[in-house]
Amino acid sequence: MQNQDYHGNSNLMDAKSASRALLDFWLENGVSVPPIEPIPRNPAPKTADKPIVKQISTAKYAAPIDGQNLAIDLAKTAKTLDELRDILNDFDGCNLKKNAPQMVFSDGQIDAKIMVIGEAPGQEEAQIGKPFVGAAGKFLDEMLASIGLSREKNVYITNTVNWRPPANRTPTRDEIAICLPFLMRHIELKAPKMLILVGGTAANAVLNSNEGITKLRKKPHKLELAGLEPIDVFCLFHPAFLLRYPVQKSLTWKDLLTIEAQIKTMGLLE
Ligand code: URA
Repeated sequence: MQNQDYHGNSNLMDAKSASRALLDFWLENGVSVPPIEPIPRNPAPKTADKPIVKQISTAKYAAPIDGQNLAIDLAKTAKTLDELRDILNDFDGCNLKKNAPQMVFSDGQIDAKIMVIGEAPGQEEAQIGKPFVGAAGKFLDEMLASIGLSREKNVYITNTVNWRPPANRTPTRDEIAICLPFLMRHIELKAPKMLILVGGTAANAVLNSNEGITKLRKKPHKLELAGLEPIDVFCLFHPAFLLRYPVQKSLTWKDLLTIEAQIKTMGLLE
């Protein structure tokens, strides 16, 4: 049976990928499976009725695992996006780097007010060195185009982790925790007015939440970073998930319309 993996690549569906697809389906629909835990760092404010996430500085994250302290220190030293890219390129603290052909940093417009964050590079992304260039990326481009957005004009794109996980598996909690200081610095240096988090991995990492994407996509969020205006944050189902479960697409079109309305209200494309 032909199937598409999390990055939209076609492959033959065997029993393992069938059970993985089923697990993904339940995870994407908000059913959490132990031992999934929030990514380690300082406790987040209780945000049940006030969806504001305060990230004061990457230095504030707890550092319970090897490599994260170094990542925090290194990320702080980047003063520009180019410096951050160079630092990440030289960073050996994430085990994903060992098997990945190259680091994937970003694509799109440096001066874009809207920043999109996905999960991790897939095979094509790792070969080409740009995020979202495979089947899921093409669908992401269609989703963005439906509300007047494109990486050629007004969007900047990156991922939660910058190296391809083997066999496109979901990055582990530790891998995400090690890459997180770089991601938060990436956001700080990019200073977008709006973040669009695609998929549960990006949403949980940036919002420091372990809620399912099905719930997170239902409400707008704010991310507060030191020295920046609070950033409007929206969560969407991952395009690879939508390619596998097209029945969920109608919800995403509604989510995109909500984002489009907010972009207009904020005058982000003017
Ligand atoms: N999926 C992602 O989350 N990111 C990519 O870059 C490609 C596929």
